[in-house]
Amino acid sequence: MVTFTIPQPTYEAPDRGPAQGSAGLRAIETVSVIGLGYVGLPTAALLASRGLKVIGVDLKQDAVARINEGRAHIAETDLDMILDAVVKGGKLQARTSPLPADAFLIAVPTPITADKKADMRAVEAALASIAPVLKRGDLIVIESTSPVGTTERAAAQLRSLRPDLRFPDAAPEQADVFMAYCPERILPGQTLRELVDNARIIGGLDHASALRAREVYAHFARGKMMLATSREAECAKLAENAFRDVNIAFANELATLCEGMGVDPWAVIRMANLHPRVNILSPGPGVGGHCIPIDPWFLHHAMPEQTPLIAAARGVNDGKPLRVANRVQRLASRFKEPVIAVLGLAYKPNVDDLRESPAVEIARTLADRGVGRLLIAEPNIARLPHELAGRPDVQLVEGSVAVAEADIVTILVAHSRFRNLDRAALASRVVVDTVGLLKAEQA
Ligand SMILES: NC(=O)c1ccc[n+]([C@@H]2O[C@H](COP(=O)([O-])OP(=O)(O)OC[C@H]3O[C@@H](n4cnc5c(N)ncnc54)[C@H](O)[C@@H]3O)[C@@H](O)[C@H]2O)c1
Repeated sequence: MVTFTIPQPTYEAPDRGPAQGSAGLRAIETVSVIGLGYVGLPTAALLASRGLKVIGVDLKQDAVARINEGRAHIAETDLDMILDAVVKGGKLQARTSPLPADAFLIAVPTPITADKKADMRAVEAALASIAPVLKRGDLIVIESTSPVGTTERAAAQLRSLRPDLRFPDAAPEQADVFMAYCPERILPGQTLRELVDNARIIGGLDHASALRAREVYAHFARGKMMLATSREAECAKLAENAFRDVNIAFANELATLCEGMGVDPWAVIRMANLHPRVNILSPGPGVGGHCIPIDPWFLHHAMPEQTPLIAAARGVNDGKPLRVANRVQRLASRFKEPVIAVLGLAYKPNVDDLRESPAVEIARTLADRGVGRLLIAEPNIARLPHELAGRPDVQLVEGSVAVAEADIVTILVAHSRFRNLDRAALASRVVVDTVGLLKAEQA
């Protein structure tokens, strides 16, 4: 059994007394986590490590089978160790359909559709799947990043499926169940530590629901827990990622401007950041991952006319991969049979995650255009993604091999392992350093 020594949480919001509803407060002993991915599985494992009985639910049969063997189907620091202990200790079991529980945490994907609208089908399906097993006194928490108003719509959906239960949006004092929205803000690779240490926003459909949800997180969280309304919590999560996107867009636009004016953007940013109230972020080849390129759209679509800045930032960041590809193509036209090293495919340093990665988009564009032979170095993957696999002019190689054979070296991700690359070899190549890897070293 894992021993996790976690101090008591510090609470920011004062208690305003016990729940007012008629639901009755029994102890939360069984928690069901719906969606066992990057967010859900570590959360389920942590809750189980604190002695709760956890029922994890996922549609993927192979993931469920693996979890029941005590092995994670995702790579996350220390997760296998905890999972092994809680599965062997009988505290966590995974299934493909829900069972009754005292609390349900929903952590299923919320991607965007082709027209950049929130695709809420997984959340709706998860709610539909728990509806038959819901009972009086249960708590439902949505963790999936969602448009503002989602928790209210979830209550309406559940009400239509379970007209016998009263939900807190309509009449909080008489509610039979509790409902809250609690966003997640973990850093992949550091998920377990961040689940424990990060501050949390706990947005209840009513105050009693927020208090009830806080009870669940108090089992493992030691960061501050701020109580809020579900709308505030939904909006705060989206605001965080829109803030990042807008600030990265500024850095990217500034870098383009500097390059056009013949000024070194890295030197400009380093100097500007000496101002005590300026903190320009690092430019790059675009923005990737499954959060920042997606979540700002949820805010934009709420009020498109009023959010030109958010939309413009999306445009700047989404346009960056094409700019980089065009630049490499221009440089390649100097060579008869250009060989191009592409250093990094992941969406950020030191992870194997290629979701929405601008580096993949750049490599694919170069390959589609037949710009030259591509030697791709991505130390965190064993095979090329489907966008690049099976193409005769694209190979996955070691970073040192790519640099040694290339005419042009394109640095797209600042993986630590690229810091050891042969500087003399790099100095004799045409280098497009989109992440300032070499500049950072010089600085
Ligand atoms: N990964 C992160 O770093 C992160 C950080 C903050 C917020 N989020 C948000 O959390 C949510 C989950 O993200 P994730 O990265 O864990 O996704 P994920 O794709 O890793 O995992 C989601 C899991 O849900 C399962 N699933 C889908 N529909 C289901 C259903 N109806 N019933 C049961 N299981 C179902 C999928 O099979 C998958 O295993 C998203 O809204 C995401 O935006 C993610």
